[in-house]
Amino acid sequence: METPMEKEPSKPEEELSVSNVSLQMDSAEGKPAKRRVLRKAHGQLKSRKKAKRRALWEFPNKIILFTAVLFVIAVITWSLLWVFIFRIENKDVLYFVGLFRLANVEFLPEYRQRDSKEFVSMSENIQQVMNRVYKTSTFSKYYKLSIVSDISSNNNGGLLVHFWLVFVVPQGKGQTFCEDCISAILKDSVQTSILNRTSVGSLQSLAVDMDSFVLTIGLRSDYTSTTGTGLGCAYDLHADRLGQRFPLDVSAVSGICHIKLIALLGHVLRLTIVSIQLTADNCITDSLTLYDSLMPIKSLILYQICEPFNESLMSFVSTNNAMLLTLKSAQIKLLPKLDGYFEAIPQEQCGGTISTTAGIGFEGKIPSPHYPSYYPPKCICIWSFQTHHLRLGIALKFQNYVIRAKTISGCDHGWWKINQQMYCGYYTDHQTVFRIASPTVNVEFHCSSKLSQEPFLAEYGNYNISLPCPAGHFQCTSGICIQQAQRCDGVDDCFDGSDELFCAIPPKDCNASFSNQHNSFVCNGVNDCEDGRDEQNCTESVPCNNNSFRCSGNICIKKKNAKCDTLVDCPDGSDERSCSCGMKTTFQKRIIGGSDAEESEWPWQVSLHFAESAYCGASVLSKEWLLSAAHCFQGDILSDPRSWTAHLGMHVQGKAKFVTSIKRIIVHERYSNNFDYDIALLQLSSSWVDTMKHFIQPICIPPAAQKVSSGSKCWVTGWGRRLEADTKGSTILQKAEVEIIDQTTCYSTYGLISPRMICAGLISGKRDACKGDSGGPLSCQRKVDGKWYLAGIVSWGYGCGRPNFPGVYSSVSNFASWIHKHLPFIL
Ligand code: ARG
Repeated sequence: METPMEKEPSKPEEELSVSNVSLQMDSAEGKPAKRRVLRKAHGQLKSRKKAKRRALWEFPNKIILFTAVLFVIAVITWSLLWVFIFRIENKDVLYFVGLFRLANVEFLPEYRQRDSKEFVSMSENIQQVMNRVYKTSTFSKYYKLSIVSDISSNNNGGLLVHFWLVFVVPQGKGQTFCEDCISAILKDSVQTSILNRTSVGSLQSLAVDMDSFVLTIGLRSDYTSTTGTGLGCAYDLHADRLGQRFPLDVSAVSGICHIKLIALLGHVLRLTIVSIQLTADNCITDSLTLYDSLMPIKSLILYQICEPFNESLMSFVSTNNAMLLTLKSAQIKLLPKLDGYFEAIPQEQCGGTISTTAGIGFEGKIPSPHYPSYYPPKCICIWSFQTHHLRLGIALKFQNYVIRAKTISGCDHGWWKINQQMYCGYYTDHQTVFRIASPTVNVEFHCSSKLSQEPFLAEYGNYNISLPCPAGHFQCTSGICIQQAQRCDGVDDCFDGSDELFCAIPPKDCNASFSNQHNSFVCNGVNDCEDGRDEQNCTESVPCNNNSFRCSGNICIKKKNAKCDTLVDCPDGSDERSCSCGMKTTFQKRIIGGSDAEESEWPWQVSLHFAESAYCGASVLSKEWLLSAAHCFQGDILSDPRSWTAHLGMHVQGKAKFVTSIKRIIVHERYSNNFDYDIALLQLSSSWVDTMKHFIQPICIPPAAQKVSSGSKCWVTGWGRRLEADTKGSTILQKAEVEIIDQTTCYSTYGLISPRMICAGLISGKRDACKGDSGGPLSCQRKVDGKWYLAGIVSWGYGCGRPNFPGVYSSVSNFASWIHKHLPFIL
């Protein structure tokens, strides 16, 4: 609002001093003052004061006064609010949870009761020590309190003290707090003596075992429920008799449940899960977490279950005499429910001395610790084998596990020291045999994983060092022996592809016996023979009836449900036509060496954004599911579905027709950081709808038998880098036509090609996927029905587009049954 005062011409400075200036307003009928009169005040004080008092209560003044009062009240209220509410809200409360072992103290049964005087006096003593430590540390300003939440017995003597530390920090200062810094303060306060060479030192009055310290950041919800300061269900259950199963039947009624299991001293706990009901979402809302302690300490997680199951039993073993289970849920409708039992079992001494008999063959078994339970993250087993003859070595046969030479990256699934050589263990889906060419064999197995691992059972026995496989047999890289006749027969009998490597390439000009020898090439929609003979006369024509399918051209074939089963059954492929996958809707008239794609040319192409930037590609399989590469989701941060969004129906980066968050990521269970089994399914939080079908379409999944033949041409697409040296991806979707390279050629360059990988590119280089394209499609078009199918998923490569180093893709047909297991409705 404009005021008259502002319109007044400027006055000399002295006239504007408060003592001799007054403000007069026109009083007539509440009209606003039109002008300001300045006058000298000498001798007019009284009348002026009266006039002033009168003027003060005039209407316009009342408004000003009222506004001023309102303003003062608002300022005071704001300050009070800021001091008492906002200032408090602007602080973060950080919770740390940890444990250490108190040596030289006997456990008393009274410590189990938190209100017993023994517990109270012991915990007060410990809390005082921790208070002194943290109040004199660099974090003293922020330190609030410590609480001893449990004192338990320990199989190796002394007490285990479980505690919480609470810090209140101004918002944004939390980053200066790290688990290691907070734990180092306590550890550094322990005085150890170099002389007595033990890990036990003195923390003021307490004898603390330095090696036992663990501390991690904790959650407020865990803090409140484990210290009894909040709601939530909590149980302390004891397995206090040997040989008895104690039933567990728990529902997380209030969203979170903490169940502490305690075994007899000197024993460990085995938890067996019979069934569990949960909403599957990568443990974001629903989870069952097993801890190797009584408190939810992240670094002591034994296992985490994120999906429901009720088919097979799963059992887990602790390393000490206690275990904590937390059952969490955010769902109101479907409460998670756990059904199982727990028991106290003896601590196991695994390993032993074994003298084998004189014969050749497998004769006994060595199990993983606590077999058939999952084995815990910490263990050592040592077996010493002795054969009866210098010519006999030891063979170890595994059903789902393989021992390979150790690489620089660590071993996530156990490491082995066999006669002084180091090896890593990996899970696999086939049998393997590991042979040690020595009559005396020392085998050490060390559990080395973050979580408990699937059990294994290795068969052992003698083998003839000079003839590992019987005569007429071939030794696969996996160690198993197959008959010579099974080599180069087009079937992967070794399960690692080694019997099909270095074979002569199957004849292109097929002779009459071709179809018998290479039945995997027949009627698969791919012309393997030059003359297309393998794709002719594929089906027997039968009379049309209820048990047959009518192909176009009035031919009936034996298969009743041939329509859209992803297998080409009709000679003309008509059974797979107009099914809803692999169709480009709008017909349009770099990747490395590529060109701009047309809008909607690759309607199954998806861009996956991590923390708001393009990171990987994926392909649309259905309204709700995508397929991508497992390595895109490797590690704690990338595996959290909440950090990802899927951009569908997109041509120019950032301009998608449909964007949604990711609800769930299913990484192949055999994927372990080495690009084998590099495949993952993603469930979208919301489905795309039919109105988007001009821009979004699913691609077909090839059936297991449909192998893409070398030399055929397919397309790789993505928004990844266009040159190896580029620093960012492309804005427009790129496409490049690449050629399928045969397995043997690819193996000869890379060596590391598993049967679940296919290579594509140009031997001369130049056309390839690159960083940022991972997870995206390698799309091939089927000749018979013109449909596009997903032959590969961009996985890895040496550089990008280098000569002789083609791109390596996960071979999707190898995962057809894995995909159908999770998505039975997919075509
Ligand atoms: N792993 C890469 C990614 O993050 C894909 C590499 C593909 N490289 C290749 N030369 N084909 O996107």
